Amino acid sequence: MAPTSPRLSAPSKSTPTFFPDKTSVVFVLGGPGAGKGTQCAKLVRDYGFTHLSAGDLLRAEQDREGSEFGDMIKEYIKDGKIVPMEVTVQLLENAIMDKDEGRGRFLIDGFPRKMDQAVRFEETVCPSKFVLFFDCPEDVMTERLINRGKTSGRSDDNAESIKKRFKTFVETSMPVVEAFEKQDKVVKVKAVKSPDEIYEEVKKRMGERGFEMAKQ
Ligand code: C5P
Ligand code: MG
Repeated sequence: MAPTSPRLSAPSKSTPTFFPDKTSVVFVLGGPGAGKGTQCAKLVRDYGFTHLSAGDLLRAEQDREGSEFGDMIKEYIKDGKIVPMEVTVQLLENAIMDKDEGRGRFLIDGFPRKMDQAVRFEETVCPSKFVLFFDCPEDVMTERLINRGKTSGRSDDNAESIKKRFKTFVETSMPVVEAFEKQDKVVKVKAVKSPDEIYEEVKKRMGERGFEMAKQ
């Protein structure tokens, strides 16, 4: 029987656009408020990574005048739900295309948050090297998010949205981490201490996976 599900964007391809021997992709995961963005900024400074945050790309698309996906993205973000993957994968592919000179290092922050995103991205854009996973208890993340909400201007840094984001994280995103764990592709770092202390551990673990700091 022919598939009946609608297609949102370009038809899927069967080979990736980028090759993992030239383009390094590291996925960065962790609950909301686990400190992904903070640690990514340090890795960009020291390792020459380009940082792409899936959430930031979605927010930019939401605000882009004339975007056919703007309203839809807005609703999903406010509800802490995962935006249909075609949109997010395409935004990421475009961003890599813009910045890659054939041999880039990319940190893809907050992605993949659902199994279908992981599969589609690795099949059509680029297979990942590993997942850097920041492990943090909910009470610590809640406190960080409530604090951030005072200045972030984000529509989802409020108590109600935060609760929904945690639920999505546990139900939808943790299975992605578990799937990568089965492939021995998860580097797990405890993310409770200060940003600098956490980063010490991150550097050690990056070294174990063959990533050296870029020459300053
Ligand atoms: O990572 P960040 O917290 O900035 O993501 C904000 C929101 O963007 C998520 O709660 C979700 O609604 C959406 N998102 C998504 N798929 C991703 C990353 C973010 O749908 N891979
Ligand atoms: Mg972030």
